[in-house]
Amino acid sequence: MDGTAAELLARADALAAVSEEPGRLTRRFATEALGRAGELVAGWMEEAGLAVRRDAAGNVLGRLGDPEEPPLVLGSHLDTVPDAGRFDGPLGVLAGIAVAGRVQARGLAPSLEVAAFADEEGARFGVPYLGSAAYAGVFEPAWLELVDDEGVTVAEAVRAAGGDPDGLVDVPSPVLAGYLEAHIEQGPVLEAEDLPVGIVSAIAGQTRAQVTLEGRAAHAGTTPMRARRDALAAASEIVLAVERCALDAEGLVATVGMLDVEPGATNVVPGRARLSVDVRHADDDELGRGVAAIRRAVDAIASARGVEHAWVTRQAMPAVEMASTLRLRLASAVSALGHEIRSLPSGAGHDAVVLSRVCPAAMLFVRCAGGISHDPRESVGEGDVAVALDVLERVVAPG
Ligand code: GLV
Ligand code: MN
Ligand code: MN
Repeated sequence: MDGTAAELLARADALAAVSEEPGRLTRRFATEALGRAGELVAGWMEEAGLAVRRDAAGNVLGRLGDPEEPPLVLGSHLDTVPDAGRFDGPLGVLAGIAVAGRVQARGLAPSLEVAAFADEEGARFGVPYLGSAAYAGVFEPAWLELVDDEGVTVAEAVRAAGGDPDGLVDVPSPVLAGYLEAHIEQGPVLEAEDLPVGIVSAIAGQTRAQVTLEGRAAHAGTTPMRARRDALAAASEIVLAVERCALDAEGLVATVGMLDVEPGATNVVPGRARLSVDVRHADDDELGRGVAAIRRAVDAIASARGVEHAWVTRQAMPAVEMASTLRLRLASAVSALGHEIRSLPSGAGHDAVVLSRVCPAAMLFVRCAGGISHDPRESVGEGDVAVALDVLERVVAPG
């Protein structure tokens, strides 16, 4: 282990080969693939001189320094969206391991924890941050009963993966000095301004919901058009209404990313449709107005089509300011290394949202090619990763 950017990129490649499916990278919470990725990471943590443990959720944690002293946590997540890129999540985990190794090579052992969280994306159970919430002691008991597409509950999945569902709830929050997450920007700003890294000012608030539409399944050949209660036709109008609401409100982004149709046959009028709605804004009032506008549109479309509907809010996270103490430390490291200090907000959610509930939290963004993320084309430059590692090392152990 040498703690270089080249090593980090080689490790990201190795992790990218660990997937639930052949030919593309998908690694969701509490799957066998996530377990194998955790094994790889645990091995690199040990190589870096960290004492490794796994918690009840399957988060992999590597500890350095005095166990009595609250640690600064460096981390991010190992789970991915379906057909993911290789840096969203792993970059922050691997950077933490590299920095832990580098400070020890200097003969230092600050109180540090490297965290590889088991769920940030929420790709399996629809609710994000299950891993970091368990770590932070803010896991909600109701989440144990969430089900995946196969009807498996969170509790069952955690047990099958070797974790302990009883250990997820009613656990005290850890005492932490702070949380620092390196992450690809997932947007175009740093590339446009030709900057290797940026400091996150705040993370946008987000609401995730599931809308279920109950129409009436019927014969596609015999049911007159005007006698139908087509759940998919209603869902289609809703998809466009969600897009329209976001286009009409400055700074609002809203997405329908999932749509299930039942019974799902060519010759049957769809009786039921289920869709996800993801709405975000950096300002909580604007987010609230956007969600309310979307809900009014859903009500109006469903009732005009005689379709029953239910809206279930899965997650409602307010916008989160990053901690000024840690931002200042990041800024002085960036400037000491001769780079421009650039602050920028994050439209994406991050484990830092959850950690900010229990300690000061901050994030360092790394430029990524074309701003592309949640896609296999995700890419970062070795030189930019090297800058990020230098910045983090300075924050952890100045001098
Ligand atoms: C996490 O990637 C998110 O959905 O913001
Ligand atoms: Mn992501
Ligand atoms: Mn991420």
